[in-house]
Amino acid sequence: MRTIDWVDGAIEIIDQTVLPGEVKILRLHTVGELVAAIQSLAVRGAPALGVAGAFGVALAARVHADDPQALARAVRRVETARPTAVNLARGAQRAAALLSRGPQAVLEEACRVRDEEIAASDAMAARGADLLIELCGARPRLLTHCNTGGLAAVTVGTALGVVHELHQRGRLAGVIASETRPLLQGARLTSWELTRWGIEHRVAVDSAGPFLMARGEVDAVILGADRICANGDVINKIGTYAHALGARAAGIPFVVVAPESTIDLDTPYGAAVPIEDRGPGEITQWAEAVNPAFDVTPHDLVTAIVTDRRVITGSPGSTA
Ligand code: MRU
Repeated sequence: MRTIDWVDGAIEIIDQTVLPGEVKILRLHTVGELVAAIQSLAVRGAPALGVAGAFGVALAARVHADDPQALARAVRRVETARPTAVNLARGAQRAAALLSRGPQAVLEEACRVRDEEIAASDAMAARGADLLIELCGARPRLLTHCNTGGLAAVTVGTALGVVHELHQRGRLAGVIASETRPLLQGARLTSWELTRWGIEHRVAVDSAGPFLMARGEVDAVILGADRICANGDVINKIGTYAHALGARAAGIPFVVVAPESTIDLDTPYGAAVPIEDRGPGEITQWAEAVNPAFDVTPHDLVTAIVTDRRVITGSPGSTA
């Protein structure tokens, strides 16, 4: 299963807004349709957004081949559809760099972005599983947050790919999926993926995570990232910081699994990252609300960052 792909001249995605009730494929023919899908989280997760950005530019290159200004506007719409995950703009810019060579060259570059994310998932799964066994012993009990599986990438995923790999090796003692308020990526999407893989799991409300760690029921926290800054600050789904504090208080490892395409050496630290605010509508109809979609986990709370090429235990900016 590929969460996002280029099929017969259009982008095909699994519509993540209707999971787990329905598995629905959406075909996106225009930049407007893609931007709407990105903003409604029909396609989401940093690596998948990188691929969406690249395919979006491939779409724009076909539609606006004879109108450079309209093409530039379309590329800008794609790369700014959501602000926080660095992969989206990066994927779009990679494809856009080939625009002068024509639509076919752009599409080929977008397919390379897709293929690199598939390969990165496999590399992270193996490296991350080795590290978790090294840090926690033979059969760790893990807690994960948001959704970092195939739905967030193209096939296997990042942190959830490590969970899958440990399960395949017979080295997983249990997994708790944090439900992930307000859009329930954990309860809806991670749980759906774990069920499809035959991995037993339990869902916990977000605020239960640190307590379960304190009670000794979790050996490590493992999750993904939307952006990793040069100093190692990790931007990820809102609730990540609370889990990092819980892990630090409980004395257990807090491991981030993300492809190199998520490391942003041009952004020095977390406070410099635009955190998407998704407005009050997702939370409440009865009062004003603040709805940041991501948070910043300070680098000193992170045990290790596992990428497709290495394990980073300091700042990416000083080891790259
Ligand atoms: O708002 P979302 O669902 O796009 O947020 C996704 C996350 O925060 C993921 O943890 C992150 O993108 C890593 S995905 C492998």
